[in-house]
Amino acid sequence: MNEDTGKTSDGSGQAVTPAPKSVYLKTFGCQMNVYDSERMMEALAKDGYAVTDAPDDADLVILNTCHIREKAAEKVYSDLGRLRVMKDARRAAGKDTVIAVAGCVAQAEGSEITARQPAVDLVVGPQSYHRLPALISRLGAGESRIVETEFDQDEKFKSLPERSPQRMPSAFLTVQEGCDKFCTFCVVPYTRGVEVSRAVADVLAEARRLSSSGVREITLLGQNVNAYHGADAGGAACSLAGLIAHLSRIEGLERIRYTTSHPRDMSDDLIEAHGNNPKLMPFLHLPVQSGSDRILHAMNRKHTAQEYLEAVARIRAARPDIALSSDFIVGFPGETEDDFEATMNLVRSVGFAQTFSFKYSARPGTPAAMREDQVAEEVKAERLQRLQDLLEAQQARFNAAQVGQTLPVLFERKGRHPGQLVGRSPYLQLVHADAGDEMIGKIAPVAVKSASQLTLSGVIAQA
Ligand code: SAH
Ligand code: SF4
Ligand code: F3S
Repeated sequence: MNEDTGKTSDGSGQAVTPAPKSVYLKTFGCQMNVYDSERMMEALAKDGYAVTDAPDDADLVILNTCHIREKAAEKVYSDLGRLRVMKDARRAAGKDTVIAVAGCVAQAEGSEITARQPAVDLVVGPQSYHRLPALISRLGAGESRIVETEFDQDEKFKSLPERSPQRMPSAFLTVQEGCDKFCTFCVVPYTRGVEVSRAVADVLAEARRLSSSGVREITLLGQNVNAYHGADAGGAACSLAGLIAHLSRIEGLERIRYTTSHPRDMSDDLIEAHGNNPKLMPFLHLPVQSGSDRILHAMNRKHTAQEYLEAVARIRAARPDIALSSDFIVGFPGETEDDFEATMNLVRSVGFAQTFSFKYSARPGTPAAMREDQVAEEVKAERLQRLQDLLEAQQARFNAAQVGQTLPVLFERKGRHPGQLVGRSPYLQLVHADAGDEMIGKIAPVAVKSASQLTLSGVIAQA
């Protein structure tokens, strides 16, 4: 393929225009999958693919999958069942379809996927997707059912094309991948591999490119992002706080966020950065999972409830208005009513701005799945309801407290009503306000007039 003309040669020296190809991609799971999907699409665009929203128009369908809970993984197979029917219908009409499964189910299940659903042509793990264009060519050359699940994070980032101009003023940037923590419920160390940090210069180059194409806010991603220790120019390890300091010198980049952090890795320099770096937004996602020391120990979280509360106190001392977010699991094996009550108490004493909470889901190959003291489904459901009632009330209270305040809002996109835009407050709240499209990508002060559990609305205030 000739990069400049987008034309291929047929060997006779004559350039021929390739038939237009289209790709449909569906993303499941976490922000890192969203980032990976963007990079896959950028690589495929370079290879001549156009994006379509309709799977039955697509020559290539990719499911970028998540293995974290059973429901997420099973959804993939019901989608694949529907795609098989679609592929047959397209074939009857003389059109070929390549079906690819990417992401964490691909890594965890490999060739089990093609065995269970033979319509799948390609299985590609989260560390191999830079090879997508080459793998698709191999299918074109007659190979079938390719499974590519090598671990080579370093090669992936080196091989992907540079970032394309972005549509949104807010972008994700993966700086660290994989996890060495081995929480006993979690598949991530198996699907994403060991912890690897990208070099500082690579991250800065990607951030500069994003910023020069209009990105104002970057969220640094890692499964364990605050364990970041990428090499600096001299080869020494740079902490996440050090990386954020470098990034905050990029002109035009106004806001920096990071996710997800482990409580054990909330280092002093990172907490300090929350106190003195105005580009670092006052929002922190710090999963605790449980408030019971017995359960935290069984989960291999490596900290107690008290240590979590102490970390929160140190962060709040550095940045009193910080909005805290967390993840919770209810019904971990052996969880008693007392353990659950300890989680409720921890929530009451912290006060969260927004959260994610889940029923424990036994995952094949993880230590907790092997335990015999699994909690009954109806007990999990009832506890989750009680926890979510409390968390939703806290979120509503946090949002209501902003009414009457003026907050700087980065406008991201059009709202549902004409003349309305949607943006984010520093605390990651969704904010609606009437404004012209020219305000997309700009930060403006918004006087907050009303709040619901999930959103704020207001009017742009005179600067
Ligand atoms: N890297 C993140 C976790 C990613 S998974 C971190 O360390 O926090 C996101 C969330 O999914 C976890 O925080 C946990 O709350 C939930 N989760 C992970 N495995 C789960 C399981 N087996 N059952 C239910 N929830 C789970
Ligand atoms: Fe999973 Fe624990 Fe690693 Fe988070 S820290 S990705 S929950 S093993
Ligand atoms: Fe899911 Fe993999 Fe992310 S299991 S949560 S997509 S790291």
